[in-house]
Amino acid sequence: MRNETIAIHGGYEVDPTTKSVAVPIYQTVSYAFDSAEHGAALFNLEVEGNRYSRISNPTCDVLERRVAALEGGVGALSVASGQAALHFAVLNLTSGGTNIVSVPQLYGTTHTLFAHVMPQLGVSVRFAESDHPAAMEKLIDRDTRALFCESVGNPAGNICDLEAMATVAHKHGVPLLVDNTVATPILLRPFEYGADIVIHSLTKFMGGHGTTMGGIIVDSGNFPWRKHAARFPMFTVPDASYHELVYTDHFGQSAYIARCRTTFQRTMGSVLSPLSAFLLLQGIETVALRIDRHVENGRRVAEFLRKDKRVEWVNYVGFDDNPYHELAGKYLGGRACSLMTFGVRGGYRAAAKFYDALRLVKRLVNLGDAKSLACHPASTTHRQMSAEERRNAGVTPEMIRLSVGIEHVDDITADLDQALNSAK
Ligand SMILES: Cc1ncc(COP(=O)(O)O)c(C=O)c1O
Repeated sequence: MRNETIAIHGGYEVDPTTKSVAVPIYQTVSYAFDSAEHGAALFNLEVEGNRYSRISNPTCDVLERRVAALEGGVGALSVASGQAALHFAVLNLTSGGTNIVSVPQLYGTTHTLFAHVMPQLGVSVRFAESDHPAAMEKLIDRDTRALFCESVGNPAGNICDLEAMATVAHKHGVPLLVDNTVATPILLRPFEYGADIVIHSLTKFMGGHGTTMGGIIVDSGNFPWRKHAARFPMFTVPDASYHELVYTDHFGQSAYIARCRTTFQRTMGSVLSPLSAFLLLQGIETVALRIDRHVENGRRVAEFLRKDKRVEWVNYVGFDDNPYHELAGKYLGGRACSLMTFGVRGGYRAAAKFYDALRLVKRLVNLGDAKSLACHPASTTHRQMSAEERRNAGVTPEMIRLSVGIEHVDDITADLDQALNSAK
């Protein structure tokens, strides 16, 4: 099936007991055992089934199957937020003394996680000078356990050359982790270019309505853990925390995502609620339609801004003079995301006046909502960074980030127009 169909039907068949067509919300903590023997078999992973909702839940399970199918992976783990997904995805590969190599263009809180929190656990994150695969390769050493990038950087809008990055990662025997939040599997499926693990904040375009937090980790099932067992013994040697289970033996291709669940979700418990999973599933049903409209509105808004003398610059990969235009052609099929940045002529003060004058477009820190949203990264999402870190992340003081929604495009440009007048 194609992604438009998977988004609506993936992971669920009409419930055989109740005949419910909509995915039921299984608002339960526990699941009854038929007997002590049945309970033991569940705990031994000898039979499939649910035990406790910190580990699995049937509503979350539908979400996991659906997103795994959209990305073309073998399995997924849903968690409470995109940040939890990023955290678990990295923890599952690293231990004290190891490192990962990341592009510098990151969502602000991911940067904080990597630069300040992971080092507290003894895991260092090396930031490459740029998103060029050669710049990443320079930083790899024998303690490196993964390469990391955002397929489309937030807010920099850069597009990573996933195929080249995956080649570099695999040459050094490590997986490529990709945050695919901004692109969504509707525009880009990173596994098709060699990525090994995909992470999403479902809070954004996937859920799409600004109502529900959620995150997910998807496993391609392609990374050869056994071949690189010296670097990744956690998948190939008996796990003392789970009665000597060997993940690659028991779960085969799904070893990575199974360990994410049995080790990190089970012990750290960043659980997605079944109600949230249900709401995210409602959003995902229309993701393909919404992305079509986001893309089209984004193009029209970018063209409006580019023609306007009150705007100094527009960073939008749909323009053929954008440095990432060619990569957008390859990875997004030429369909640029509706996330863009621009500078209001007149610097920080003019940008602030513009921001304050917006009426329809909401002032906030979020993206990927049906509503048009504007953010001033330097004062909010990227505020905790040093000036140099902000520059490396592609954030400048006068920059406005726009997540163009699916309203009528003329209403969006009319609001931008009146706000630009106020900024003059
Ligand atoms: C690219 C990207 N990744 C991850 C996150 C974190 O997601 P969440 O807010 O669901 O924790 C965000 C949030 O804006 C993001 O933009």
